[in-house]
Amino acid sequence: LNRHSFPPGFVFGAGSSSYQFEGAAMEDGRGPSVWDTFTHERPENIEDGSNGDVAIDTYHRYKEDVEIMKDMNLDSYRFSISWSRIYIKGKLSGGINQEGVNYYNNLINELVANDIQPFVTLFHWDLPQSLEDEYGGFLSPRIIKYFQDYAELCFKEFGDRVKYWATLNEPWSYSKYGYETGEMATGRCSSWLNSNCSAGDSATEPYIVTHHQLLAHAAAVWIYRTKYQASQKGLIGITLVANWFLPHSDTKYDQKAAERSIDFMYGWVYGSLTSGKYPKSMQTFVRTRLPKFTVEQSKLLSGSFDFIGLNYYTTTYASDAPHLINSRPSYSTDSLVNPAYGRDGKPISINIAFEWIYVYPKGIRDLLLYTKEKYNNPLIYITENGINEFNDPTLSVEESLIDIFRIDYHYRHFFYLRSAIKQGVNVKAYYVWSLFDNFEWSFGYTKRFEMTFVDYKNGLKRYKKLSALWFQSFLRKDKRLYSS
Ligand code: GCO
Repeated sequence: LNRHSFPPGFVFGAGSSSYQFEGAAMEDGRGPSVWDTFTHERPENIEDGSNGDVAIDTYHRYKEDVEIMKDMNLDSYRFSISWSRIYIKGKLSGGINQEGVNYYNNLINELVANDIQPFVTLFHWDLPQSLEDEYGGFLSPRIIKYFQDYAELCFKEFGDRVKYWATLNEPWSYSKYGYETGEMATGRCSSWLNSNCSAGDSATEPYIVTHHQLLAHAAAVWIYRTKYQASQKGLIGITLVANWFLPHSDTKYDQKAAERSIDFMYGWVYGSLTSGKYPKSMQTFVRTRLPKFTVEQSKLLSGSFDFIGLNYYTTTYASDAPHLINSRPSYSTDSLVNPAYGRDGKPISINIAFEWIYVYPKGIRDLLLYTKEKYNNPLIYITENGINEFNDPTLSVEESLIDIFRIDYHYRHFFYLRSAIKQGVNVKAYYVWSLFDNFEWSFGYTKRFEMTFVDYKNGLKRYKKLSALWFQSFLRKDKRLYSS
């Protein structure tokens, strides 16, 4: 397989996000985000007690990083904008931070000059702390207008060169980990779930937060479509994370549990974006704790995307768990599903170093086919797919670069992606997560996610792993190179 095994014009890229990559957290007028607060005030929530103050310093090294992308023959680079870097106090009335805007202009110009398409995520979880303090961020409907203003500023400033916009990254993760389990910013949950949590309510808050994320998304899409899209000619969508789910046994109960799992993880957001309603199963199980859309809001939500970005990593087994009926309600118990990575605790496919991503490449095809059937064959970009290894400090740099398992991972996902395309799925792009090792949220720097090694001990020097060299040759444009 190589680039030419895919339809002409298929886009290959790599992804990143502001808090995980940029660093320069206190520089040039950037204000704190909820992730700065979470990592600084509660370092015990991060596996190595670290934070994104410096991260991999892309803020200062963007030129060098774009050069690596160029070298790797990437068509596109996905990055996110840090809301608290471009707005003083996170809102329009606080004023624009011109130095922050300049940074993104420089990055975008550098990409365009190197023929790399910028793909911009507006919100990859680093909410300005000022908005959290003022009214609880996404717990309040006030966020909708603020997000719309912020999105509009980005369209105005960058939309002449940016043609791909994703409003939100993985609303599911932001709600689940930030408001149900409390493992990520904003770190809220019911204390019975996690004693490190500050006040929160795992039975209601995840639903409220997703509700407001959806409405904020729709408001941003509306402003783009009514004021900017005709002249800027870009596309706007959202990125969603979804596992594929398999029934743990062949019983109809477990089959139903697998369907419910997909509804709760994927349909929660995707169903709302297509029909303006939450999936039936969620309405049945969550009942009055699930917020409702007004008729007007449903209309605004329905069809509010040009493309769907899909983040696929892994597949999970689901089994029916009626015994959870009397447990305390929370997002996870509501679906009455026991998630498990494998039958009898065995992973779907054994792999060496990863405790959390079980490799199931066929899942990408099955998820895509499901999406095609269920949601009327939308335009899809795979916005994330990848695998980590542990950051093993005993390895030399040279040893760390030998990631043959990663080549295998991507190769097999490409195989099934191509098979999905042959079966008529309308997928037009694929982004590796990620181009560089980076700050992996609550895991800090203990996991290395992907193709370029970053030497944290020695000035953050970048080294291509074997997978990067492989991907680079996979992406060569010259067909003749492959002809023999
Ligand atoms: C995600 C995030 C990334 C993660 C990646 C690996 O969307 O979850 O976009 O920030 O680093 O998924 O866990």
